[in-house]
Amino acid sequence: MKAEHTSVMLERCITLLAPAIEKSPSPVVVDATLGLGGHSFALLEKFPQLRIVGLDRDESAISIAQERLASFTNRVTIIHAVYDEMPTVLDGLGLTSVDGILFDLGVSSLQLDRAERGFSYAQNAPLDMRMDQSRGMTAQEVLNSYSRNDLIRVIREYGEEKFATRIVDNIIEARQKNELQTTTDLAELVKRSIPAPARRVGGNPAKRTFQALRIEVNQELAVLERAIPRAMDRLAIGGRMVVMSFQSLEDKIVKRFFATATESLTPRGLPVEIASLAAKFQLVFRGSEKASEQEIIENSRAQSVRLRAIERVAI
Ligand SMILES: C[S@@+](CC[C@H](N)C(=O)[O-])C[C@H]1O[C@@H](n2cnc3c(N)ncnc32)[C@H](O)[C@@H]1O
Repeated sequence: MKAEHTSVMLERCITLLAPAIEKSPSPVVVDATLGLGGHSFALLEKFPQLRIVGLDRDESAISIAQERLASFTNRVTIIHAVYDEMPTVLDGLGLTSVDGILFDLGVSSLQLDRAERGFSYAQNAPLDMRMDQSRGMTAQEVLNSYSRNDLIRVIREYGEEKFATRIVDNIIEARQKNELQTTTDLAELVKRSIPAPARRVGGNPAKRTFQALRIEVNQELAVLERAIPRAMDRLAIGGRMVVMSFQSLEDKIVKRFFATATESLTPRGLPVEIASLAAKFQLVFRGSEKASEQEIIENSRAQSVRLRAIERVAI
């Protein structure tokens, strides 16, 4: 395994999920982002009673995970699904609640490494960027069909890009001349849209625009908004959910849901907590955790991770 295929904060995820898994005689964990199956593999090895339901919207990730987890086949159910479909998937398996849920958000190293998927500004390929290549619009279709205002909104909001207007004006010009076909065309267009002094800081200037398009193509934030509450709803008492985000927009969504779910609804000023209004969840620790310096040295993907965890304490 190459270093960049290493699962992020693996030991920490195991430690955080352990109490939820160990309290149940027949524990079930949903790996909502199965990817290459790294986290699932380690969990199955560590907990011999554990059953995993693994989801991924990418069919090539599913095939790799199936192979990697082949020795656990009687304890793993792998399903091609978007993670906001979790309730339907669990209903189909007859599971009303589960003991653990893991979200390792974003793209996998497999998706980034396969040039033809179009996720990487560093490798020339058609502008696809769909995690699920069986459905939905490609990045090229977004770039060709969205209005100027919509493109500015996407690149400004999802890419947190200050120069969105300049970039989009160049996109409009290039698409009229049919000059926007590949990741390299887009990466170069972004580079020349950004003033030279700004280009010297903050890494490759195309990174933010590529992130924005990827989020739009896969509707990542809208899906996450639906998925987090639906997943929390399926946790058993004592069940835990761990979420790793890799950019601030995702982390903000997770943080907001966790904050609301851990607040008591008992009116302020009452001397006692009203049981039916008490919070149904509690944070496993305050705030978010980062990867260790050592892990970041060994695996650059760990650099931007923010991990949060929550536990259900009441129905
Ligand atoms: C970072 S990788 C997971 C890596 C995995 N934890 C491991 O250790 O090998 C994220 C995976 O989540 C999948 N994914 C992203 N968004 C998804 C969604 N909304 N529904 C289902 N899968 C999704 C991607 O296709 C990708 O394979």
